[in-house]
Amino acid sequence: MTRLHVNIDHIATLRQARGVQYPDPVFGVPVVEMAGAHGITVHLREDRRHIVDRDVALMRQTIGTVMNLEMAAADEIIQIAVDTKPEMCTLVPEKREERTTEGGLAVAADIPRMTRVVKTLHDAGIRVSLFIDPDEKEVRASKEVGADMIELHTGDYCEVTTAREREAELAKLRAAATLGAALGLKVAAGHGLHYHNVREIADIPEVEELNIGHSIVARAVFVGLEKAVVQMLEVMGEK
Ligand code: PXP
Repeated sequence: MTRLHVNIDHIATLRQARGVQYPDPVFGVPVVEMAGAHGITVHLREDRRHIVDRDVALMRQTIGTVMNLEMAAADEIIQIAVDTKPEMCTLVPEKREERTTEGGLAVAADIPRMTRVVKTLHDAGIRVSLFIDPDEKEVRASKEVGADMIELHTGDYCEVTTAREREAELAKLRAAATLGAALGLKVAAGHGLHYHNVREIADIPEVEELNIGHSIVARAVFVGLEKAVVQMLEVMGEK
């Protein structure tokens, strides 16, 4: 079984585009949950380009499944996480100029700091996932710093254009998932997944959770949010 965590940031992107109060991403929470999603993922970026502090506070009160707070390992945001107490945090790299999260975290190059951040979140009772490229060194480093879970970055897999490149990316993801599970880490995956490329990732046995946002919110424009979530669960093989 593969769980689906829906990233609802892009409901807020639509709101911020006009600087108004709608559409409210908080209203998306019960719709997504009633459609059968297993969790809500929300990224509070340092630049607050979509989700803002009030969304996080209200979602903490309304999420009935699992709240996965995606965030940079920045002091201000770590404090918000500690105060908010989501069930889990996913640490991601963040650059102000990027359109969306680009690469995975450089865990191996930053062991002492990542160890400290993981401990701070653990001390607050929060499970920690690290968003990494499917790279052996980063998987081993994630174990070393005490993470509970790794989220494998599927961005490259989603961007390749030939069958051969796709197989090569899938092989990297499968190997990283196998290694992670063998080390005792839980394994998730995400970024760029849509209705036509998700099945191969959902079928990797060690991948127990997917974080998917943009494609679901985009489809919701045409079919509604509830149906978009149900259709994603269907193509994952979960309905
Ligand atoms: N996982 C992580 C760590 C992310 O940063 C994002 C984007 O916020 C996603 C998953 C979801 O990506 P997408 O919106 O492309 O489905």
